[in-house]
Amino acid sequence: MSKALDFIIFESIDSTNTYLKRKIKAGEITSDTVVLAKSQTNGRGRLERNWEAEKGKSLTVSIALKCPPNPSLTLLCALGVFEALDDILGDKNLKIKWPNDLVRKGRKLCGILCERVSDFTVIGIGINANNRIFPEEIKEKATSLTLLTGREYNIESLAKSVCEKVVNTLEKHRFALDENARDKYKSLCINLGKEVHFGSPLKKGIAVDISPLGELVVATESGYENVSYGDVFVSGIY
Ligand code: BTN
Repeated sequence: MSKALDFIIFESIDSTNTYLKRKIKAGEITSDTVVLAKSQTNGRGRLERNWEAEKGKSLTVSIALKCPPNPSLTLLCALGVFEALDDILGDKNLKIKWPNDLVRKGRKLCGILCERVSDFTVIGIGINANNRIFPEEIKEKATSLTLLTGREYNIESLAKSVCEKVVNTLEKHRFALDENARDKYKSLCINLGKEVHFGSPLKKGIAVDISPLGELVVATESGYENVSYGDVFVSGIY
């Protein structure tokens, strides 16, 4: 890591993202900080959803990074987490589902929630690490590092290597989806070339590109649409 991050560890907290947002708003965090929790009582996902994580098995970590705002930052974060998980899994099946889910063979391994607060972006990362069973609602859609490799992971060391890769990736690309990052992202993005459903009411089309702003470009019957927010369902996945 090019600069040392302060690492705070909690046994239990409402949400690592919420904690950092609260502290930033109170002016109590002035430099880059990482918070790891062994369990969260009110974990949050994208689109105002809950994020359930199994105590001691799932990795729940957030990084507060002082950096310029950029809508594509969330895609860069996925590239950073990809680097860390690819080192562990080392096969060609790890992909990114737009905007920032890490998936293997269509099953979700990691979700990322980026939120902007004053001069900081709070990057919340949830990884299914040592999980062996999942709740009924997600058991067909989720996987974990342990299920994929048969090994157990030390959550603190895993969090350190993931955060290091994320910060390095963001710094290397100067906090924006430059051409190199965009090409890499496109090579990993599972949506591209597939039929996708998006919007409300639901529309369909073929995902054809990632825009420089990180939007998913979808070719529909009525022309190209740049999708910047919301769920995008990929046929045959989720
Ligand atoms: C998603 O896929 O919907 C994003 C999930 C992000 C979950 C992580 S766990 C650590 C951090 N704290 C939270 O409350 N959420 C993020």
